[in-house]
Amino acid sequence: MKKGLAFSLYKKYHIDRNDERLGMFSILKEKYKINNALYPGSFVHITPSFVFPSVVYVDTNKPAKDFFNDPSVHDFVSKKKSYDEDSVISFHHKDYRKNIGEPIESFDLLISQYAGFISQFCKKYLKIGGILLANSSHGDASMASIDTDYKFIGVLNKRRNKYAFSEKNLDSYFIPKKPREVTREYLEKINRGVGYTKSPSNYLFRRIN
Ligand SMILES: C[S@@+](CC[C@H](N)C(=O)[O-])C[C@H]1O[C@@H](n2cnc3c(N)ncnc32)[C@H](O)[C@@H]1O
Repeated sequence: MKKGLAFSLYKKYHIDRNDERLGMFSILKEKYKINNALYPGSFVHITPSFVFPSVVYVDTNKPAKDFFNDPSVHDFVSKKKSYDEDSVISFHHKDYRKNIGEPIESFDLLISQYAGFISQFCKKYLKIGGILLANSSHGDASMASIDTDYKFIGVLNKRRNKYAFSEKNLDSYFIPKKPREVTREYLEKINRGVGYTKSPSNYLFRRIN
């Protein structure tokens, strides 16, 4: 990859759009014991590696593959990281719906951001007791909310550029604006988020089965 191109991709998609989401990962690190994370459909969103020592990224996108192959990305992470260990960053240029070659039940955190039903296809890689972070953009938070293998445990809200965690009134989430039954079939059919009366930026679940 051309010198500086990797960083310019991260800058373009995350820094310039004020969308690094660093505060979100920092809260997770504070609240839960997370050493390693799996991020399917990551594209070039390498921010989790600033916070978690070991992260596996998965994407079918070719520029994402080039980005993770670029040694300057590792230099960039080592400047930004908030932990003492060396960073372990792996990338699989694979479809996350197929076998990604990682051991089952081996990750503390599964990250699902704007990339489809990761809570379903990659559940097997998450430890029982591990955390799923999902937004509702592609319907994945909705999917997890009706999956009895996950327990809904909290939300993250972004206000004035800061993230805040809440575990209060969890019953008041996932209430559709238009009354309708949200089923797996419905979510697979619409392939996008459901409009809810409350819309936090992200939802947290614990894998319980
Ligand atoms: C909209 S981008 C989101 C990127 C990143 N998660 C973020 O929040 O900035 C969606 C990414 O998911 C990837 N993706 C979608 N389906 C995938 C699949 N089945 N396997 C691997 N990557 C996938 C796409 O290639 C794309 O890079």
